[in-house]
Amino acid sequence: MKAALVSLGSVSSEWTLERMRNRFETADNINIKNIEVKMNAKSLEVLYEGAALQEYDCIYAKGSFRYAPLLRSLTFAFYDKAYMPIKPNSFTIGHDKLLTHLALQYNKIPMPDTYLASTPQAAKNLLSGLNYPIVLKFPHGTQGKGVMFADSFASASSMLDALETLRQPFLIQEYLETGGVDVRAFVIGDKVVASTKRKAVMGEKRANIHAGAKGEAYTLDMHAKKIAINAAKAVGAEICAVDILESHDGPQVIEVNLSPGLQGITNATNIDVADKIAEYLFEQAKKFREKGRIGETDKIMKELESKAEKEAMQQIITNLDFRSDRILLPKLVTQITKFDEKDEFVVKAEKGKVVIEKYS
Ligand SMILES: Nc1ncnc2c1ncn2[C@@H]1O[C@H](COP(=O)(O)OP(=O)(O)O)[C@@H](O)[C@H]1O
Ligand SMILES: [Mg+2]
Repeated sequence: MKAALVSLGSVSSEWTLERMRNRFETADNINIKNIEVKMNAKSLEVLYEGAALQEYDCIYAKGSFRYAPLLRSLTFAFYDKAYMPIKPNSFTIGHDKLLTHLALQYNKIPMPDTYLASTPQAAKNLLSGLNYPIVLKFPHGTQGKGVMFADSFASASSMLDALETLRQPFLIQEYLETGGVDVRAFVIGDKVVASTKRKAVMGEKRANIHAGAKGEAYTLDMHAKKIAINAAKAVGAEICAVDILESHDGPQVIEVNLSPGLQGITNATNIDVADKIAEYLFEQAKKFREKGRIGETDKIMKELESKAEKEAMQQIITNLDFRSDRILLPKLVTQITKFDEKDEFVVKAEKGKVVIEKYS
């Protein structure tokens, strides 16, 4: 099988490519900067260094938020042809903190209270009703560089004025006190393969490695692992790092990184995360080649259907009303089943069990 890694060529990407080469017959290094997308009503083409990008069994595409539209177009164009661990619209969701929070909210994943206001005046009205400190964030910031903390209304208000002159969109967030510690869970498929705890340096609130924080191996409990895995699913990424703050109310997700660095987490945990990625890509690409993505959609649909069925089914634990040798069912059964006396029914009875279905 043939694979490609589309990236900006960081050290982490080099590690991943090397591990991919151990598993796949070939693994091409595709620099995202040399990709172009060409489309019209009839076709959508991806060009690499001016020629059509060849077909692969697996394309692992990643890059910074600047390339989100390009990555989305590329993965969209190859969606039915190659296995790709990150879905097309994940690039626009995952590289925007606000869209990420919306996706997390939709999936009921715990996160800090997050606010968005349309004008600085509306934001100031909002700020007057909050508890301090609070956090202001640029939706596209990374490495801690777009995160600001305000200890009072006065500082938050002056920051807002500065943001207005910069014409920068921002979001406002509840500050979760964790003593400058955050937890990073590296999710691959439905597993957390490695996790670290990062502590901000003295006088700093941001626990990013780029802000001087040091990471150390840290094992998450089952609950936090589940939250991280669900956050990855909510964003549509099978490979990503989920940043979590362990607050008094339990783990809360603050960010999903689609292109996480591997050095910090690999050194801290001694886990070869790049190899775990390569192994997963290979297994999934093999499955994709056998069944295609259509098989996957069928599986999801079946799961959803059986879930809906289970949810629709309600259980009542009760004594039965025996009228001499007949059984009268509780009134609630009539309400739930919506059976009508005009309908006909099939009654299947065996020792210890009875099933009644509307005859159609
Ligand atoms: N709501 C919050 N409460 C407390 N600390 C926060 C909050 N949001 C972010 N931080 C701190 O700032 C760091 C960077 O925030 P994050 O949202 O992960 O953005 P980035 O993309 O810059 O890493 C986090 O690792 C954490 O230490
Ligand atoms: Mg982060």
